[in-house]
Amino acid sequence: MRVCVVGSGGREHALAVALGRTADVVVTPGNPGIPGSTSQPPEEIDADLYVIGPETPLVDGLADRLRAAGKLVFGPGADGARLEGSKAWMKEVLEEAGVPTAGYGAFTDVEPAVAFLRTLPGPWVVKTDGLAAGKGVLVTDSFDEAAADVAAKLSGTTFGDAGRRVVIEEWLDGPELSLLCVCDGRRAVALAPAQDFKRLSDGDAGPNTGGMGAYSPVPFVGPDVVAEVLERALQPTLAALTARGIDYRGALYAGLMLTSDGPKMVEYNVRFGDPEAQAVFPRYKGDLAELLAEAARGRIETDPQFDQRAAVTVVLATEGYPLHPRTGDVIEGLEKADILPDVTVFRAGVARGGDQWVTAGGRVLNVTGMGGDVAAARATAYEAVSAISWPGMHYRTDIAAIVHSPS
Ligand code: AMP
Ligand code: GLY
Repeated sequence: MRVCVVGSGGREHALAVALGRTADVVVTPGNPGIPGSTSQPPEEIDADLYVIGPETPLVDGLADRLRAAGKLVFGPGADGARLEGSKAWMKEVLEEAGVPTAGYGAFTDVEPAVAFLRTLPGPWVVKTDGLAAGKGVLVTDSFDEAAADVAAKLSGTTFGDAGRRVVIEEWLDGPELSLLCVCDGRRAVALAPAQDFKRLSDGDAGPNTGGMGAYSPVPFVGPDVVAEVLERALQPTLAALTARGIDYRGALYAGLMLTSDGPKMVEYNVRFGDPEAQAVFPRYKGDLAELLAEAARGRIETDPQFDQRAAVTVVLATEGYPLHPRTGDVIEGLEKADILPDVTVFRAGVARGGDQWVTAGGRVLNVTGMGGDVAAARATAYEAVSAISWPGMHYRTDIAAIVHSPS
C-alpha cells in the first residue's frame, strides 16, 4: 500500500515511521528531517490512502476535496472537524450526546462574559472558540487575569478572529488522560492511553503549550476506564454526529479529566495528539496502514495491539517557545542520539543549514525512549536528550517522573 501522510511535524514523523513498517510512505510537505518528504501537494500525489495529520487542513476541508476526487482518506471532513474548529460547537455536541463535561458559557461580548466569570468559584478557564495551536487556553487562579484575558481575546488582539468568541468553563480537577481513538463513522476503537505534559516548565509551571512530553501506557488507566470512555463519550458522540449527517472517519482524540465524579471530557481534537502520537505509535504492533484504511473505508476490523513496553517522549523546544520561538540555531549531537538503542528522535521543526541541522520551529525534536516500564523508558529518553544540544534548547526534566494520578 502507498500512503500519503499530510503534515510536517513530529506527529507526522511518528505516523510515517509506524506506517512505514508495512507501507510505502510519502509525507507532504514533511520537513527535511522526515524521510519521504515532498513539496508536491497531496492532490497531486497518487496514493492508496491519505492520512491527514494536523487540524488546520481538516478544518479547511482537505479530506472533502480528496474524497471528491475518489481517494481513500483517513481524516474527518470539514463538518466533523468543526469539533476542534469551534469549541462552542463541540460543547453543543457533547451536551446533545449527554457526555459528561465541564459546565460552560460561550460569549462574543465582554460584559456578559465577565458576568459569567463572576458566577464561577475559580480557578477560571478562558478559551478561544477557534483554532489557536493549543495555546488559546488560559487556566488561572486570578479573577482579574481571567477578565483581562476575556477582553484581550474578544478584541482580537491576542488570537485574531479565533478569539472573537470565547468559551468560559467550570474548572475541572484531576489527572488528565489523552485517549487517541480511530473512528470509522459508526464505531471508535481506542489506542493505548497516554498522558501529556502541557505546561512549559518543570513542576507544571509556565504557560500551556502544544505539549512538552508524553508517555504511554498510563499505569492507573486500565481497560475498564477505556471501556467507560468509549461507551459514555465516544460512541454517543459518533451517534450525535451521525444524527447531524456527519460520517466521521478519522482520528478522534479525547482529552479527559479523571475527576472524582468520573472521567469528564475537556476537549476533542480531530487528529492524533502531538506529542502523544510519538509515545503511542512506537508501541503499535501490527499493520497501522491497514487499521487506518479500514477506518477510512467505513469498517474497522482490526483490534489494535500494543507492545507491553512503555514509551516516554521528551520534547526539545527552542528558546522563546511558545510565544516567540527563536529559530536558526545549529543542533549538535543528533547523530549520536539516533544510534542509541530503543531511541527514536522524531524531527518536528528542523531545517538544513549547509551541512548542519538547524532549528526551524518552536518544538524541534521529540525524543522517544522505550523500556520495560515507564521509569526505564524515561531513563532511555533522557540519556538520548543529554546527547543533543543547541543554544537556548529548552525541555522539561520531569516528563513521566511526576505521574499525574488520582489522589
Ligand atoms: P484544551 O486545549 O481545551 O485541551 O485545554 C488545554 C489544557 O488546559 C487542558 O489540557 C487542561 O490542562 C487545561 N484545561 C482546559 N479546560 C479545563 C477545565 N475546564 N478545567 C481545568 N483545566 C482545563
Ligand atoms: N498534546 C496535545 C495536543 O495535541 O493537542
